[in-house]
Amino acid sequence: MRILLLNGPNLGRLGKRQPEIYGRTTLSEMVERARAHADARGASLEHFQSNHEGALIDRLEVLDYDAVVINPGAYGHTSWALRDAIAGIERPAVEVHISDVHRREAWRHLLVLEDVVVGQVIGRGVDGYREAIDLLLDLPPEGA
Ligand code: DQA
Repeated sequence: MRILLLNGPNLGRLGKRQPEIYGRTTLSEMVERARAHADARGASLEHFQSNHEGALIDRLEVLDYDAVVINPGAYGHTSWALRDAIAGIERPAVEVHISDVHRREAWRHLLVLEDVVVGQVIGRGVDGYREAIDLLLDLPPEGA
């Protein structure tokens, strides 16, 4: 399985940005761990991070992957355009939030991708990315 890992706005500063909330693992460390995990399970992983909504949607439109892990950052609370993009790719996607958004400010409780993703991993720290990969790899085969 070819997995596309997408990270949205402000996640480029993972490890430096609000470490009390998001931890001290950097984005590149997290990606390497996720890639090693995917490799060990016989999958490949490509990573793309952008602070721009349209760039994330442009990357989704290049249909060179079988499944998606996405941490949309704050776009996960606001971006109906990103929701439409995921609804349109006809590939399974799992949403990750490092922090437990349901226990934070009320505006973080709305997750607009909720009904177009096959699963969500919320509040599990950076380990959540590996859990999301497992969710995708453990999906029943299509048509089963
Ligand atoms: C986040 C949660 C969002 O509310 C926030 O805007 C982020 C990171 C998370 O991984 O916990 O940028 O998606």
